[in-house]
Amino acid sequence: MQLQRIIPATQTAIVQHEGGVLKATPGLPVQTVGPSDILVQVKVVGLNPCDFKMPLRFPTPDLWDGCDYAGTVVQVGDEVAKAGRFNVGDRVTGGVQGSNRADPTTGAYCEYLKVNSVFALHIPESMSFQDALGVSGSGISTLGIAFFWSLQIPGSLRQPASKPHDILIYGGEQHCRITGCGHRVITTCSPHNFDLVRSYGADLVFDYHLPSCAKDIRAATKNSLRYVLDPFSEIKTLRLCHEAIGRMGGKYCALEQYQPDLCVRKTVKHELIMAGAISGKGVDLPEPYSVPPNPEIGEWASTWYPVVDKLVQTGKLRPVPVEEIQPGGFQGILAGLEVLKKGVSGRKLVVTIKED
Ligand SMILES: NC(=O)c1ccc[n+]([C@@H]2O[C@H](COP(=O)([O-])OP(=O)(O)OC[C@H]3O[C@@H](n4cnc5c(N)ncnc54)[C@H](OP(=O)(O)O)[C@@H]3O)[C@@H](O)[C@H]2O)c1
Repeated sequence: MQLQRIIPATQTAIVQHEGGVLKATPGLPVQTVGPSDILVQVKVVGLNPCDFKMPLRFPTPDLWDGCDYAGTVVQVGDEVAKAGRFNVGDRVTGGVQGSNRADPTTGAYCEYLKVNSVFALHIPESMSFQDALGVSGSGISTLGIAFFWSLQIPGSLRQPASKPHDILIYGGEQHCRITGCGHRVITTCSPHNFDLVRSYGADLVFDYHLPSCAKDIRAATKNSLRYVLDPFSEIKTLRLCHEAIGRMGGKYCALEQYQPDLCVRKTVKHELIMAGAISGKGVDLPEPYSVPPNPEIGEWASTWYPVVDKLVQTGKLRPVPVEEIQPGGFQGILAGLEVLKKGVSGRKLVVTIKED
């Protein structure tokens, strides 16, 4: 028999105030679940660059902040109950689009989070809530959109490609884990993270600080690299990626705004993608970050997430190392975001907001 959970009417969340200033704000409503939603009592949250970048770049009072969460299901919508994919008491993790103008109360830095069950993952019994944040729900949606919609790499998580290709994931500490699909994963990082990225599936690793980095990648890929993911899209990273792409050209997928005038190779296509596009509902942001709705992506995601869920259950998709900010709570999140602004290497920052 499942225990009946008492769900309060109000809660505290980290919300944008005037000028995008983030504050722990009490007295906010707990959302009502729809048929395909679950309500999660949030235990631990993860910190991502977008959690401070969005309020800084697009300050919008009243938007709830935060993307990655882990917690316990306390309520399920009617359709979820019928399908039986999630039950009250399940431990779950995932990512939502925080600081979201189209859906202001979607933000993981809260006590009770309503999420679309399609995008939630079960946490294996042996995994702590803290480690589950190393799975990174938002990282998973980024990779799904980048690899299978933007770069259109052949194969899938179910069916490896018949012919392996080279894929360059720049600064790929958090990103090499899900490529699989039979391809050769190439990444760049600092030498102290070489062993880490290799242990997460990188086949070739290069130090992006070396002036010869692009040339070395081009040589290692015999001038045939076609697929590139650049999370930073800075002048330096874009140039390096362009130089690394082989003679026939290819596709450059950016996670940040890039300078089109630097894209001088006609045979290289470019695209800026947003993780939030995984919902299929589009992303409501100023250009160039806005994404039009594409229900096809949402439909694809509803079949893709169960596959990812299985990879997490079977240990094939491992969490990256995490570091817990102490003391935790909502003030811990705000302090952690300041740490993240200065740069963090080889680990993901997490904050416990409710002890289990
Ligand atoms: N568009 C979207 O939807 C979306 C989604 C996710 C992330 N992003 C963006 O992607 C970027 C990366 O985020 P993340 O959380 O994956 O990674 P991160 O933790 O910021 O960085 C990962 C690693 O990349 C290397 N790195 C960091 N900054 C670099 C730079 N300026 N140039 C070259 N290498 C650098 C570092 O490796 P070493 O420590 O080994 O040197 C770092 O540990 C952020 O700018 C974020 O805003 C966008």
